[in-house]
Amino acid sequence: MSKVRIVEVGPRDGLQNEAQLITPFDRIELIERLISAGLSTIEVGSFVSAKWVPQMAGTDDVLRAFIDRTDLSLPVLVPNEMGLDAALLAGAREIAVFAAASETFSKKNINCTIAQSIDRFRPVVSRAREHGLKVRGYISCVLGCPYEGDVPVSQVTDVAEQLHDLGCYEISLGDTIGVGTPGKARELVHAVGTIVPIERIAVHFHDTYGQALANIYASLEAGVRVVDASVAGLGGCPYAKGASGNVATEDLVYMLNGLGILTGVDLDRLIDVAVWISAELGKPIGSRVGKAMAGDRPASVARD
Ligand code: HMG
Ligand code: MG
Repeated sequence: MSKVRIVEVGPRDGLQNEAQLITPFDRIELIERLISAGLSTIEVGSFVSAKWVPQMAGTDDVLRAFIDRTDLSLPVLVPNEMGLDAALLAGAREIAVFAAASETFSKKNINCTIAQSIDRFRPVVSRAREHGLKVRGYISCVLGCPYEGDVPVSQVTDVAEQLHDLGCYEISLGDTIGVGTPGKARELVHAVGTIVPIERIAVHFHDTYGQALANIYASLEAGVRVVDASVAGLGGCPYAKGASGNVATEDLVYMLNGLGILTGVDLDRLIDVAVWISAELGKPIGSRVGKAMAGDRPASVARD
């Protein structure tokens, strides 16, 4: 039976865009609950400027809480060498660098051009690998940019090739503003797949236009086996106005269960996590499956 590895990005991509700041203590609890639900790859935060993204302050404390969990993959986002130094100090075993396929987005997000970002990542990736860390590479705006509109596939394949050449073991294709549709997603995966082996490609769909599951299904048909998702559909992107959360992990798990694809995730427990974090944030669950399955289970149920 086939398997999909889910990269849970709720504690990072989800919480980075929530207006309400969640303390490192509660972020740790969220991650513990996600682990109990069976998730074993969880992006736990980012080492970026707290002036730019205050929600991710304290990621060092969050990471240190899981220092002994060598059985898990707990990547953190790192934009530059300063972020790498902080990640190393906190005991990171995996980092992710993040580039964009659109110049304007690159400048708004990390304050440099695409070429400058690749130059910045070069020492980050090589030093990280010298320390034995795994490095993942993200590309934002792969199917559209909030500032530039359509993004040519060739801009994505260019960046994918550069990140892969730098030494990223996996390239995550980010539809940051969720504008993609399945035909375009399939075409993109095929194009990147001519440069990066398909088993090294992950997909990262935001669900702004309700296309995320359809895009994931098209990507699975094209051979992708790693999918990013965010519990309760949390989040968005601070530098992409109107971007809604990533595909909700529970929506994804429900679809994969129906397809007979293994994920290792217990859907019922995951719903408890979605109920709990939504209550913490004081908002309704942002997923269809969450709404359908949560019923009237109180958030306190999940507070064992
Ligand atoms: P900058 O202002 O160009 O950098 O920011 P700088 O080197 O000139 O430094 C300015 C200040 O930032 C200095 O502090 C530095 O010390 C500090 P000051 O002297 O003013 O007090 N600084 C840092 N502090 C902590 N950690 C660091 C760091 N680096 C510098 N690593 C920078 C450049 C990249 C830091 C900034 O633009 C930044 O932090 N941006 C945030 C980017 C971000 O987190 N975006 C969201 C994540 S990406 C995303 O969501 C997309 C994704 O999900 C995929 C998808 O959906 O497409 C991955
Ligand atoms: Mg994202």
